[in-house]
Amino acid sequence: MGKPSVRTVAMDDEIRGRTLVEESREAVVVLDDGDRVVLASRRARQTVEGVREGERLPPDLLSGVRGVVPHVVPYEIDGRRERLVYLSREGDLAAYEELRSGFTAAVSHELRTPLARLLTLLETATLPGEDVSVLVEQAQREVEQITELIDEVLFLSELESGGRVVALGLTRIRPVLEEALGELDERAARAGVELRLECDSDLALGIRPRMLRVVARNLAENAIRYAGPGATFVLGVEQSADGSIAVIGRDDGIGVEEAELPRLFERFYRSDRARASRGTGLGLAIVKHIVTQAEGTVEARGSRGRGLEVRCTFPAPR
Ligand SMILES: Nc1ncnc2c1ncn2[C@@H]1O[C@H](COP(=O)(O)OP(=O)(O)O)[C@@H](O)[C@H]1O
Ligand SMILES: [Mg+2]
Repeated sequence: MGKPSVRTVAMDDEIRGRTLVEESREAVVVLDDGDRVVLASRRARQTVEGVREGERLPPDLLSGVRGVVPHVVPYEIDGRRERLVYLSREGDLAAYEELRSGFTAAVSHELRTPLARLLTLLETATLPGEDVSVLVEQAQREVEQITELIDEVLFLSELESGGRVVALGLTRIRPVLEEALGELDERAARAGVELRLECDSDLALGIRPRMLRVVARNLAENAIRYAGPGATFVLGVEQSADGSIAVIGRDDGIGVEEAELPRLFERFYRSDRARASRGTGLGLAIVKHIVTQAEGTVEARGSRGRGLEVRCTFPAPR
């Protein structure tokens, strides 16, 4: 057996180094001596504007102007001078930790409510003369809600740990939306909500079909749950002159107060809890997460009694 060649070892090291930088949880870049970005972590590409591999790093990022306190580690490789530059903001990680612990507390709280109801139902079922079949049915619904919450929390954490949203190629939009709405036909009919699709068949987006489906499903499900009988939900797709593509869920139902609009995308936010007794409050947070990771933006419009419109705008497909 011959020794592994020097070149193989160098390749291994390079792959290892590359992976370490790319998968780092920090916003970190490797610069050459002309301040060109040789390599950037996914976090840096997604969260710091102006970071693009092969291009010069915007000078204000190095001088601390943007509130970024760069931590610079210079080194030499094969006689070339490079620098590893951490671009995280001061307190970034601390803020992240705080968010996480707040999230855990909120999840526990949200789980406690259906679990407490379930316990009461089971206790009642042991009493003589109770209609057990009704209680079992209610218990089933509580378990469904718990399952939904757990599924959504898991999906959110998958997204947060870098779950891939962006597709390698383009996804044709219409078939995905058709399928998503088709799956909800029966529920919509039961709720008295009409579902419609308005989308040209040649439009495409650089997002995974599964992620697009989650977006569509959440918007349609909300209309079915909240808009009220007699409402119409339209899932529309529009392309602007600049090439950006908006996926819009619009209904003419009960809507929310205008003041609530910006809060709808917050985790666990639900307007009027009594009326909306089911659901987790995570649906629109998930939508926002997906759209933001695909470098798009979300916006909600409408007012009480005038329906709700949720607009997800994606940059022009590349
Ligand atoms: N189409 C809609 N019409 C009226 N209210 C809505 C609509 N969509 C969402 N909402 C409100 O926004 C809240 C947050 O929605 P979402 O994040 O999907 O959570 P969930 O559906 O689990 O309650 C809902 O609880 C509801 O109060
Ligand atoms: Mg929802």
